[in-house]
Amino acid sequence: MSKNSLVYFLLWNLFQLLFEVNCQMTPFKPNILLAHTATLLDNKLYILGGTDAKLNFIQKDLFYLDVSVPFNTQNLSWQDLSNIDLVPPHYFAAAIKGGANNDTLILYGGDTSDKTMSLVYTFDPQRIVWDNPKIIGVNTIRKFELIGVNSNGKMYLFGGVTFDGVNFTFLNDMLILDTINLSWGIGSVVNAPTARSSYGATLLPNNNIIYIGGVNTVTKYDTKTLNIIQGDVLTLNEVYLYDTINDNWSTKTTSGKIPSNRAIFSTVLGLDGQRVIIYGGEFNNPGYLDTTLYVLDLTNFSWYIPKISGKIPSPRIYHKANVIGKYMVISFGTSYDDVVDGDILLLDISNNDEYVWTTTFDPTVPNNISSSLSPPSSSPSPSPTTSPTSNAPAAVIAGATVGSLFGVILLSFGGFLLYKRNKNKQKQKDVMQIHGSEGGYREQELTTNHEPII
Ligand SMILES: *[C@@H]1O[C@H](CO)[C@@H](O)[C@H](O)[C@H]1NC(C)=O
Ligand SMILES: *[C@@H]1O[C@H](CO)[C@@H](O)[C@H](O)[C@H]1NC(C)=O
Ligand SMILES: *[C@@H]1O[C@H](CO)[C@@H](O)[C@H](O)[C@H]1NC(C)=O
Ligand SMILES: *[C@@H]1O[C@H](CO)[C@@H](O)[C@H](O)[C@H]1NC(C)=O
Ligand SMILES: *[C@@H]1O[C@H](CO)[C@@H](O)[C@H](O)[C@H]1NC(C)=O
Ligand SMILES: *[C@@H]1O[C@H](CO)[C@@H](O)[C@H](O)[C@H]1NC(C)=O
Ligand SMILES: *[C@@H]1O[C@H](CO)[C@@H](O)[C@H](O)[C@H]1NC(C)=O
Repeated sequence: MSKNSLVYFLLWNLFQLLFEVNCQMTPFKPNILLAHTATLLDNKLYILGGTDAKLNFIQKDLFYLDVSVPFNTQNLSWQDLSNIDLVPPHYFAAAIKGGANNDTLILYGGDTSDKTMSLVYTFDPQRIVWDNPKIIGVNTIRKFELIGVNSNGKMYLFGGVTFDGVNFTFLNDMLILDTINLSWGIGSVVNAPTARSSYGATLLPNNNIIYIGGVNTVTKYDTKTLNIIQGDVLTLNEVYLYDTINDNWSTKTTSGKIPSNRAIFSTVLGLDGQRVIIYGGEFNNPGYLDTTLYVLDLTNFSWYIPKISGKIPSPRIYHKANVIGKYMVISFGTSYDDVVDGDILLLDISNNDEYVWTTTFDPTVPNNISSSLSPPSSSPSPSPTTSPTSNAPAAVIAGATVGSLFGVILLSFGGFLLYKRNKNKQKQKDVMQIHGSEGGYREQELTTNHEPII
């Protein structure tokens, strides 16, 4: 590439970015997407990475939903930031909100065919700064199909899968990324759960992380019922607690209406901090109509099926869930009709006696919910209900233009990566096919998913 064409290319990208930023209010329709990450930062739910239903990498893969204002799930106003996305196409990564000010998206791992992809990327959405920082200490393992959990600025990355080009290996190590001083650490594996990926995990108020279910083999499932038809997933009659303060593991035996073995579901902490809610995933046929929604009472580790009302959506798999305000917000995944259900599901979990499936999001948080559990309003913005939607793009524009020096450096970097990405596109596709046919149980599984199984 000649110097001139590089300059031309960078200018073109700059133009694209400015154009994009200015046109943010035009409706953006994401491709069907699964195996993405969903991270809540400053009242915006950022969706990054993932694939379409046929396991093609999504190229345009960074956008957000403003959750400071009411919305309806049938009419989502996604804001596209793809042109400032510096991360190579990838899926099954782990992401958290972390960093020194606890306001940065930290992305780790994920499966990719791009050999240049770093293990860690950071994205500061306020200043629109991406980085792939050098991490102190040694770690060269690229894990995927795992959950990252932030406790006190450390990103806990238990288990998951690695792929060496031939074999997939399921893991049970505890990798720890300190997102404040950017160093690698390792946690205890004494009494850790067996190797697994695609488990559920969430941080509890006592600084323990709870790990639930998962998978350690190749599986296939029926796309309608989400029942496992080949292989097996792991039991939920015990759950595992990792104490992030004392670096030790314990196991709790569960009771009550124990969900059948399952994996690739999503897990959130209830608003009172006393229960864990799981949703969706692939599971062994329990012998009754499974609502795919279960609650684990943390006071006695007893499972129950919550009372629910509202229109029950079709269950999904490969989705993500975040607690935002009084809702469990489920994003994307597969096995649902996006016209019927929409890409976002809202379960109002403010009343433990009855959860409500709803399509309208109300950003006001009821007074009786502990403020430490409500979404952080780090920006000195007025009441969320009164701030107009157009504030968000304005802030983005300010960020892009005021920080002009930074911006230009960033854009150059972005332009270069975009160029490389485009150049590699054809190659990547071939790699994907090889990956799929030689080792790819994921490819097999997802292909099977989209063929009717009678
Ligand atoms: C969808 O949302 C946009 C803005 O968010 C609004 O202008 C439009 O009227 C809405 N359409 C419907 C059918 O509600
Ligand atoms: C950042 O916020 C998360 C909750 O979103 C919390 O778990 C974590 O401990 C916080 N980190 C720091 C360093 O305060
Ligand atoms: C992959 O697994 C097979 C069977 O377990 C083994 O024979 C082979 O050595 C493994 N290949 C690599 C690269 O680890
Ligand atoms: C990073 O901070 C942790 C404590 O949170 C400390 O144990 C570790 O040594 C620090 N690493 C570096 C490289 O400063
Ligand atoms: C974890 O370590 C703490 C502090 O040493 C101890 O009190 C606790 O009993 C340990 N838990 C387990 C399960 O070993
Ligand atoms: C667990 O505790 C809850 C109260 O938090 C209670 O309603 C429930 O019956 C208990 N379950 C069992 C099996 O003891
Ligand atoms: C908050 O109040 C509402 C209505 O007053 C009630 O239904 C709900 O159970 C309460 N939630 C909590 C966590 O106490």
